[in-house]
Amino acid sequence: MKFSIRCLALLTLLWLPTVQRSLAETAKPMEKKAFGTTPDGKTADLYILKNKNGMEVSITNYGGIVTSIKVPDRSGKMADVLLGHDTLEGYIADKVYFGATVGRYCNRIGHAEFSIDGTKYTLAKNNGDNTLHGGIKGFNKALWEAKDVSKGGEPALELTYVSKDGEEGFPGNLTATVVYMLTSRNELKIDYSATTDKKTVVNLTNHSYFNLAGQGTGDILKTVLRIEADKITPVDSGLIPTGELKSVQGTPFDFRKPTAIGERINADDEQLKLGKGYDHNFVLIKNRPNGLTLAARAEEPASGRVLEVWTTEPGIQLYTGNFLDGSIHGKGGIAYSQRTAFCLETQHFPDSPNHPNFPSTLLTPRQRYHTTTIYKFSTK
Ligand code: BGC
Repeated sequence: MKFSIRCLALLTLLWLPTVQRSLAETAKPMEKKAFGTTPDGKTADLYILKNKNGMEVSITNYGGIVTSIKVPDRSGKMADVLLGHDTLEGYIADKVYFGATVGRYCNRIGHAEFSIDGTKYTLAKNNGDNTLHGGIKGFNKALWEAKDVSKGGEPALELTYVSKDGEEGFPGNLTATVVYMLTSRNELKIDYSATTDKKTVVNLTNHSYFNLAGQGTGDILKTVLRIEADKITPVDSGLIPTGELKSVQGTPFDFRKPTAIGERINADDEQLKLGKGYDHNFVLIKNRPNGLTLAARAEEPASGRVLEVWTTEPGIQLYTGNFLDGSIHGKGGIAYSQRTAFCLETQHFPDSPNHPNFPSTLLTPRQRYHTTTIYKFSTK
C-alpha cells in the first residue's frame, strides 16, 4: 500500500511538468474581447497579449492604443505601468494621447503647413498655430483593422489604417500598418510601416505614459534615466524646433550618465521653462543611420523595474507629463497630476518638413516607410 502511494506520488510529480507544458502550449497567447462602441457605432475590441513569463499587454484597435502593460517588479509583484483609462469612453474623450499610436505626423508641424515640390499643404491646427500629433482627428481616433499574426507562441497583433488623401490636410492615400509583438524576452516590439500613392510626410510613434512604480502611485521624479543623445533640437515658445542642434554638455539635458528625472527638472534653464519641464526631442547617437540601437534606459529604484527603449529612429521625445494637472481621472478613478508619468516617443524630429537640415520624413510612392521600436522590461 505504502509502496503504491509513493509510486503514485512519484508518477504525478513526473507527469505534472508535462501537463503544465502542454497547457502552456495550448493556452492562447492572444485573447480578444469587445471593448465598446465608437462614436460612429462600430465595435472596438481589446486584444490581450500574454507571454510565458506572465507579462501582459493590452491593445485596442481604437487608435492603436496600448491600454496596459503589466510587468513584475524585482520580487515578482505585477503592476500596470501605463497611465490610461478603464473604458473605451475614456479614450474617446482623451486629449493627451494615453498609449496612442500617433500619426500621420507625430509631434508638431509649425504654422500647420509645409511644402512638397513647391506645392503648399495646409493642415488642421490643434495646438495654437501648429499641428500636433496628426491634427484634430489623428490616427489615435481611428478604428484600425485588426489581424492576429502571432508566430511561434509569441502573440502579435497587426493593425492597419488607410488614411485618405487630404485627411487633416495631408496629401496621398496612406496605408499604415503597425505590428505589436510581445516576445518571450519581455519586449513589446512595434513595427511601423506605410505606403502612399502621392508624396507625403510620415512620422509614426507610440505615446505610452510610463510610471514604472505602477500607474497612479505618484510622480516619476526618482526614476533614473539614461538617454543615448549628445544633442537636442531646442524649441521656441510654441515648442517648434528652432532648427539648431544643441549640445547637451553642461545642461540639464545631459542624460548620458544615468540621472534622476527630477534632479534638474526645475533648473534655471530657458528650454526647461519653455517646456514646463522636459518636452524635447533628443538627437540619438547612431553609429549606423536606421540601425536598431539603445535609445534610453529608465530604472525605478523602489520596484527595480527597468525599461529599455531600442529604436531605428533618429530621435526620441522625452515628455515628463508637464501638462497633466489632476483634471484627468484615469484607471480606477485616479487623478493624474503633473509628472506622474514620462513618455519616450521614438520619432523623426518635430517639424522636419520645414527643416531641410533634419533627417527627411518624406515618403514617395516608390518607397516603403518602415521603423521599429522595442520597449524591453526587466528588473534590477
Ligand atoms: C508633446 C507635448 C504634448 C503631449 C500631448 C507630447 O508628445 O511633446 O507637448 O503636450 O504630447 O499629450
